[in-house]
Amino acid sequence: MNDHSSHIVKNLMQTHGIDVTRYDDSFLETSLQKRAGDTLCRSTDAYCVLLDQNHQERQVFFESLRISYSAFFRNSLTYSVLEHIILPSLLLQKRTPKPRELRIWSAACATGQEPYSIAMLLEELNSNSGQKSAYRIFATDHNEAQVKEAQKGQFTAEALNNLNLRQLRQWFTRVGDIYSVRPALKKNIAFSVYDLFDMNSGAPPSSIFGDFDLVVCANLLFYYKPAYRTIILEKTAKCLAPGGYLIAGEAERDILTRNNYREVFPQSAIFQSRGNEKP
Ligand SMILES: C[S@@+](CC[C@H](N)C(=O)[O-])C[C@H]1O[C@@H](n2cnc3c(N)ncnc32)[C@H](O)[C@@H]1O
Repeated sequence: MNDHSSHIVKNLMQTHGIDVTRYDDSFLETSLQKRAGDTLCRSTDAYCVLLDQNHQERQVFFESLRISYSAFFRNSLTYSVLEHIILPSLLLQKRTPKPRELRIWSAACATGQEPYSIAMLLEELNSNSGQKSAYRIFATDHNEAQVKEAQKGQFTAEALNNLNLRQLRQWFTRVGDIYSVRPALKKNIAFSVYDLFDMNSGAPPSSIFGDFDLVVCANLLFYYKPAYRTIILEKTAKCLAPGGYLIAGEAERDILTRNNYREVFPQSAIFQSRGNEKP
């Protein structure tokens, strides 16, 4: 990003309370270029002048930085490894020597597709094994509006494309064009607002003590500068139970290997913290 753009965007962000210094330069530059194109500005500099002058465009630009896209079973390989290897082995560990609750944190849950996908897998595994193992999913996001949406659990048919017919029938009720998550799938998910940059806590207060067997922190790291990615990844490493797993986005695998995590299954985005491996 050139000095001119950087200066203007920084001012605008400061005026509107968003800390631009955390965003990755290339993400900011791409966002500026995209809006410059959409508004027919000839350059990002010209767009920055528009941003400075036009309140409505400032709102549109700010919204464009808050990427909230999510999907059920978003990365098919990762979810397949989760379903066939990671979750069965975690459930087994939790059954012996005495039953303990499996603890999962979906750390940027957006509108809920991620925690609901994991809950569907756990319910299916429990029902296939004939043994009901207790689990709790703490689903958090810093965006309150999204947490409310997630809690509501209402989706259009298009959003449910990755589900099979059995999952659709078992876990959703349909009214008109809207499919609502059944209470039976929601019952083990605790939704709350939590900012991963909260320096006063090592894990979401709703979870009380962290110690997660699995943390999903997917598709948000690449929006932040490397130093901020490290802050998030140090926090997730600290609140993983020994031998616990971290799941990132497919495009974030390099970020994790550079931050003291090791890949558990090639090509999947499933990791363990090197500082937190089982002795
Ligand atoms: C692109 S969505 C990804 C949603 C989901 N994890 C997935 O992979 O489908 C990124 C989410 O990260 C959330 N997010 C960004 N920064 C955050 C932070 N500092 N603390 C908590 N959530 C954050 C956003 O609000 C957004 O819901």
